[in-house]
Amino acid sequence: MKKKNPFKYGELSTGENFCNRKAELKRLHSAFRDGQSIVLISPRRWGKSSLVDHALGTYKGKLYQVKIDCFGISSSEEFYATVLKSVLLATTSKLKQLTDTVTKHIKSFIPYIKYTVGEGEELSISLDFPESKLDPGTVLDLAQKIAHQRKIRVVVCIDEFQKIAEWQDGSTVLEKLRSHWQKHKEVTYCLYGSKRHVMSGLFSHSSQPFYRFGETILLNKIEHGEWVSFLLTEFRKTGKSIAIEVAQELVSLVESHSYYVQYLARICWNNAKDKITPVILKDSWAELLNDHLALFQNIVKGLTLYQTNYIKALLAGETQLTSQRVLQAYQLGSQGNIKRIANALEDQEILDYSTETPSFCDPYFAPLFKKYFVSK
Ligand SMILES: Nc1ncnc2c1ncn2[C@@H]1O[C@H](COP(=O)(O)OP(=O)(O)O)[C@@H](O)[C@H]1O
Ligand SMILES: [Mg+2]
Repeated sequence: MKKKNPFKYGELSTGENFCNRKAELKRLHSAFRDGQSIVLISPRRWGKSSLVDHALGTYKGKLYQVKIDCFGISSSEEFYATVLKSVLLATTSKLKQLTDTVTKHIKSFIPYIKYTVGEGEELSISLDFPESKLDPGTVLDLAQKIAHQRKIRVVVCIDEFQKIAEWQDGSTVLEKLRSHWQKHKEVTYCLYGSKRHVMSGLFSHSSQPFYRFGETILLNKIEHGEWVSFLLTEFRKTGKSIAIEVAQELVSLVESHSYYVQYLARICWNNAKDKITPVILKDSWAELLNDHLALFQNIVKGLTLYQTNYIKALLAGETQLTSQRVLQAYQLGSQGNIKRIANALEDQEILDYSTETPSFCDPYFAPLFKKYFVSK
């Protein structure tokens, strides 16, 4: 039988093709069991959503699992409606259960909830609330009430949590969430997001409502060696071979970045008949860079001259960006300007400042920038 390419990106990596993260899985599992809430932070595409999904996989049927992604949600009304619907769907398999929950816990909502049962008995729910009727407190307490009544724990996962802070009434919403959620003994909240500076701000500033809300995990990249063994196994399993040195080089090119490891490995797999040679790796890397060229050009188009100059200075190996020499040589304006430039680049997720020296978020960025903007 023809084997399939085992490497994938753009969809969550769970089940068999999941690499390591053993320590983090252990922490999540014990949090789910104990009702300890979790805050998970990492730059985008390092593997937060995959990790949470994989961890939940073990508990299928044993826990109610509510998953909400704030990425596309732009207001608190939409959020509360999504929470309501998600909790109802996650805790219901039969119509009877749904009507039970609604009459027991959210009676006042009855006129605004419609449900239909499909051919395969699958439920679909639609909500039609006049704004003033959707009481946030009732919505937020529902998960705890169901957990308590049925003696089954609920895990509520909220992806891109930092988005909430951007809503017009963001700070009021955060206060409301905290005031309810902190009383819930049988629900585990798992809140995660990228934009480390925003997420960290929400959870580690004493002025913020979510200060010390849960156990915080700063997710690191998967280690180089773990990736190498993962690649060796995955290629072997699907009938192709890769020398350890080539696998190491593959992981180094993409700086152990989860999404790009999968991306590059996928191209290599497609390009090789049975063996990933150094030449195939080199060509595949060129293909990856080329795939990202349009995106890169778009990002660069949006940069200010100061930001472009700042990146040039970094790529030239400068570390003292506020020194008079560097400010002048790269035309970076005043000393005070540097912080502004850095903040903007961090906010656009071009640079990551969580390490000692700033690093580029995406491994394609530096090579393409050098190719097109740094004269030899
Ligand atoms: N543990 C892992 N093992 C293998 N691949 C992974 C793992 N974690 C992430 N990936 C890869 O990285 C991609 C991005 O991961 P994702 O979970 O969406 O990141 P995030 O939620 O942090 O943005 C996934 O589509 C998958 O290809
Ligand atoms: Mg995600």
